[in-house]
Amino acid sequence: MKITVIGRGNIGGGLADLWERAGHDVNRLGRAGGDAGGSEAVLLAVPGAAVEAALSSVAGLEGKTVLDATNLYGGARPPAGFASNAEYVKSVTGGATAKVFSTNFASLFGRVADARVRPSNLWSGDDQAESVVGQLSHDAGYEAVRLGDLSMAATQEGLAGAIFAISQSGLGEFVYRMAPPEQL
Ligand SMILES: NC(=O)c1ccc[n+]([C@@H]2O[C@H](COP(=O)([O-])OP(=O)(O)OC[C@H]3O[C@@H](n4cnc5c(N)ncnc54)[C@H](OP(=O)(O)O)[C@@H]3O)[C@@H](O)[C@H]2O)c1
Repeated sequence: MKITVIGRGNIGGGLADLWERAGHDVNRLGRAGGDAGGSEAVLLAVPGAAVEAALSSVAGLEGKTVLDATNLYGGARPPAGFASNAEYVKSVTGGATAKVFSTNFASLFGRVADARVRPSNLWSGDDQAESVVGQLSHDAGYEAVRLGDLSMAATQEGLAGAIFAISQSGLGEFVYRMAPPEQL
């Protein structure tokens, strides 16, 4: 798959490495922006408060399937008029949109392939994004678990504080798995 990552830091760079290893063709963009035209999927992995600036510097986003990994910390809010960053993203691109990879630690990407069972990767978003989310989660070593449609993206963005608190409460950086009882 041809993928553009907007943001090439811990999350964008880390997933780009994993996806390239799985055979994908990844175009890595930083804050200078660039062109996402020709991509079949776009990952947005910039600071949560920089989403408007980041998208405005990238051409070729119209109709693209976007995987938005951003979180909002320290009282930062989505762009005015939107309940979540992900819904803002969709208003810009008009394409299928998912909030995903926002509830996993980039620092563990290098260890996920060794897991006894695939950790989960929560996502919320459009039905049309489901196959791309499932494949790119799988190719990064995770199993996608759906939280709901795009109206649940704000709820998912709100989980970042809880995940950080769990980590700070003694567990450290962690993976998680949500599975039906027949998979126990
Ligand atoms: N780190 C994690 O474990 C983790 C987990 C889940 C979600 N997240 C979320 O994922 C996002 C990225 O986190 P990260 O840890 O990967 O951050 P990071 O390592 O600091 O990387 C940020 C990237 O965003 C780019 N950027 C910064 N400001 C920008 C702007 N105004 N316009 C366009 N691009 C800009 C940077 O560009 P340059 O390369 O040009 O400097 C850099 O490539 C954040 O929203 C974070 O909350 C992170």
